Amino acid sequence: ASSFTSAAVVEHTFEVKNLTIGRLCNQTTITAVNGSLPGPTLRVREGDTVIVHVLNKSPYEITIHWHGVHQFANSWADGPDYVTQCPIHTGNNYTYIFNVTRQEGTLWWHAHISYLRATVYGALIIRPRKARSYPFPKPHKEVPILLGEWWNANVEDVVSDANDAGAPPALSDAFTINGQPGDLYNCSSDGTYKLQVQQGKTYLLRMVNAAMQSILFFKVANHTMTVVSIDACYTNPYTTDTITIAPGQSMDVLLKADQPFGSYYMAASVYQGSDFVIFDETVTTGIIEYVGSTVSPPVMPDLPDFSDNETAHRFLTNLTALTSAPFWEPVPQPVDERMFITIGVNILPCDRPDPNQCQGPGTTIVAASMNNISFSPSTNLSILEAYYYNVDGIYTPDFPDQPPVIFDYTSPDNQFNAALLPTIKGARVKQLKYNSTVEIVFQNTALGTIENHPMHLHGFDFHVLAQGYGNYDPATDPQKFNLVNPQLRNTVAVPIGGWAVVRFRANNPGVWFMHCHLEVHVPWGLAGVFIVENGPTPETSLIPPPPNFPQC
Ligand code: C2O
Repeated sequence: ASSFTSAAVVEHTFEVKNLTIGRLCNQTTITAVNGSLPGPTLRVREGDTVIVHVLNKSPYEITIHWHGVHQFANSWADGPDYVTQCPIHTGNNYTYIFNVTRQEGTLWWHAHISYLRATVYGALIIRPRKARSYPFPKPHKEVPILLGEWWNANVEDVVSDANDAGAPPALSDAFTINGQPGDLYNCSSDGTYKLQVQQGKTYLLRMVNAAMQSILFFKVANHTMTVVSIDACYTNPYTTDTITIAPGQSMDVLLKADQPFGSYYMAASVYQGSDFVIFDETVTTGIIEYVGSTVSPPVMPDLPDFSDNETAHRFLTNLTALTSAPFWEPVPQPVDERMFITIGVNILPCDRPDPNQCQGPGTTIVAASMNNISFSPSTNLSILEAYYYNVDGIYTPDFPDQPPVIFDYTSPDNQFNAALLPTIKGARVKQLKYNSTVEIVFQNTALGTIENHPMHLHGFDFHVLAQGYGNYDPATDPQKFNLVNPQLRNTVAVPIGGWAVVRFRANNPGVWFMHCHLEVHVPWGLAGVFIVENGPTPETSLIPPPPNFPQC
């Protein structure tokens, strides 16, 4: 191959280690990669091979997930603990090797075990291969903007306290932009993230929401922004003054420095949709400073109220795919597999002797589910290995295509309806024929009238055909489907008290996790697994495991 088109190998070493850092007037022990928060940015071009040596020098078991990377026929490199791999034990190493093909834009990587992704995360930026350019004007500069969430306590302590209580974890203490809370928090001004811009130039903000529990609004004072890509799928340019971004989602946004000389805050705050649950109401800021300005206090944007469903819904539903983009795939038709999946919070009976460990409603343990099954994998072997080596007893191929009860899911009257709440634990998977087409209706259940669940599928991008409020109606709602240029993405924010319909072609053989990206909902069980069978050729079959695959 000529150097004009040849792909490169991008190699990194991730040393995962605990360290103590200062934030919000506190010293906190965090787990981090290469001593930095956020961790290193991986910069590749489409077509490259990525090699990351993970050295686990932390006291915790670790895995790393490359969020949004398709990992074609290579679930081995995907990362979710006990789904595709056993964790890398303390003191051990493992090397992830994967290709980044047929996708461009901003993705990210994060720990995919317990709560460690709170501080173990970074950007993964895929630029077009050298022969190609962006489908938008070349920006003057590209800047990662990673939104995060911060606890003053060690997050592994936060999560173990919550698990011990059978209750939600403590609220975060701050939100962050590129690891920094910003000027509105105590002891934080020195570190505030600052972007210096030249008047008249355009900047590409490569945004990621790496927060644990919070969908965020993001604004820049006095500026509009133009979205050109979501989850590394190009969109028709969409200009807005407010961005809504859910945990797991990423976005490429053009920002033109077209305002008078001065300083402007970029700021993010929670989109919660209801005041049923308490949440962190603080605001994180960074500064956009025009080069050549005289020093002045930055202008603050007017952020939407936490319950501004209209602003969030408008943004999330108005995005459309750029069908002339290089890797656009038309909506798969006809549909082979139809699934109706309820998603939401549930309860499990508490079998713990100490009532202090049963702090869910009415002395229960809080859980969550898809179709009233709380995903609970075996810790003896990963589902991927059980599938590949034909080992019984790790999973069952009987995930149901619909919930046990057909109901008025979204009426607030049913918020604590006993018929909806019980769930059972299991590791049930849905097995799919290679190349079959799958449509999923995600229905937020009664307790979902309190929050929006960002549903993330590994291994694929899916088309988001429609989204709405209330109960999905199979008689009329299909008329609302966008089958022409629906947004393509890997994480859809299923509206609070509503539904979303996605479609994908199961053309990636392997084992693929699907879950809510509100982090606490994963251990609670709002998750499931697809196994896509091999295709007819070696090229369409799962590759063998890499050497030194971690053992449980
Ligand atoms: Cu970003 Cu399964 O995760």
